[in-house]
Parts: sequence; structure tokens; C-alpha cells
Amino acid sequence: MSCPHCQGAEKLFDASTARGDLESYRKNGPDKTTVMLLDAIRKAASPKSTDQTLLDIGGGVGAIQHELLADTVQSAVHVDASTAYLGASQEEAGKRGHRDRVTYMHGNFVELAPEIESADIVTLDRVLCCYPDMPALVTASSAHAKHLIGVIYPRDTWWSRLGGKLFNMWFIIRRNPFRFFVHPAGAVDAAVRANGFTQRYHQESGFWQVVLYGR
Ligand SMILES: C[S@@+](CC[C@H](N)C(=O)[O-])C[C@H]1O[C@@H](n2cnc3c(N)ncnc32)[C@H](O)[C@@H]1O
Repeated sequence: MSCPHCQGAEKLFDASTARGDLESYRKNGPDKTTVMLLDAIRKAASPKSTDQTLLDIGGGVGAIQHELLADTVQSAVHVDASTAYLGASQEEAGKRGHRDRVTYMHGNFVELAPEIESADIVTLDRVLCCYPDMPALVTASSAHAKHLIGVIYPRDTWWSRLGGKLFNMWFIIRRNPFRFFVHPAGAVDAAVRANGFTQRYHQESGFWQVVLYGR
């Protein structure tokens, strides 16, 4: 991976973070905002189709994949800048018996996008906040979504921007090139809509906003 940000993600989301997140997922299930997005996807996804596909960008331990492979999608592709998260996601997929229905790709989605097929559903759960070039990431991911794209990203408020600055001071002290971004919500929304999508669901919860678009 050439981008410094992705190298920072590899360092930040290491084996110990991935192990902790996997244990938390096994114990508590998906996070509250992820449950909100999963519910919205299940309501909006075509109920008759049994062969839907998922592209989970920055899927972490794979919570969205594991949940949707149980009842909504037939197969999934997980693209992630973190080797450790991909390993944790594969371990859980093996435990749940759907390892052979997921394809794993390591790297920066923006760079890998030309070699990845479109999917019925695309998800980015807390990924936009990790990437500096929001228009490139949102444009590439929404161009890969045939029907639905779900995004969870920070609310665009003064206190979330302040929180982002404090996170970034910590990364600078730790000499990690990773940075946290609070992208303007209007610009994110416009970038998804530019690919022909309209908003189907929008809810705010604490630091995050959960949005589902369809076309
Ligand atoms: C904060 S974690 C969120 C993980 C998971 N989606 C969740 O909500 O628990 C951000 C994830 O996005 C990945 N990521 C960030 N930018 C990426 C990019 N450009 N391409 C692929 N993965 C990326 C990171 O490696 C990491 O797995």
C-alpha cells in the first residue's frame, strides 16, 4: 500500500486491536450503529432475491458480513487496509461456516477498485473517517453499488471536529501517519447522490450518523 494513511491504519488496527474487537463482537454482537444499518439494509434489500452480493469496505472483524451472510446475501468481498482485521474476519467466518463465501483483499480500496466487481450492497462502517480523500473513496464505492450503499461516519458538528483534532494530536505523538477526518456531511451526501442514489434512511446516534442510500 503506497498511501501513508493506509500504512497508519495497518499500524493502528494491529493484532491486539483485532483480537479485542473480535472478542467484543463475539460477546456483545455488532455495535449499536451497525445494528441500525443492518436493520435498514434488511428492510430495503430485495426480499425475493437469494443471490445478492455484498462489498464490505474496511469491514474490520467482519460484523456486517457475518450478519448479512446469515440471511440476506449469498457472498461477500471484504477489502481492508488492515491485515490483522482481515485475519480476525476470516477466523470468525471459519467458525460460522461461511469462509468459502467471502473473498478477502488487502489494500486501499481506492487503488484496488478497478479490479473489484460491483455488488448489490456496499457498506462502509466507520471508514470515511479514516481516509483523507473522501470524494475518491465515496465515488469509487458508490460506483460499485448496484442497489444499496450504507455509510456510517462522524456527525459534522463542532464537538466531533474538536474530538477529531484531539485524536490526531494523539496520533502525532505516537508517530503514526493515521489521521481521523470529520468530512462535511453535505459533501459526502452530494458525492453519493452524484452516482444516482437517493437517501432511504438517516439516523444520528452519539458521535455517528447512519445513512442508507438506494437506487
Ligand atoms: C475504524 S475501523 C472500522 C472497522 C469496522 N468497519 C467497524 O465498524 O468496526 C476502519 C477500517 O477501515 C479500513 N480502511 C480505512 N481506509 C481504507 C481504505 N482506503 N481501503 C480499505 N480499508 C480501509 C481500516 O483498515 C479499518 O479496518
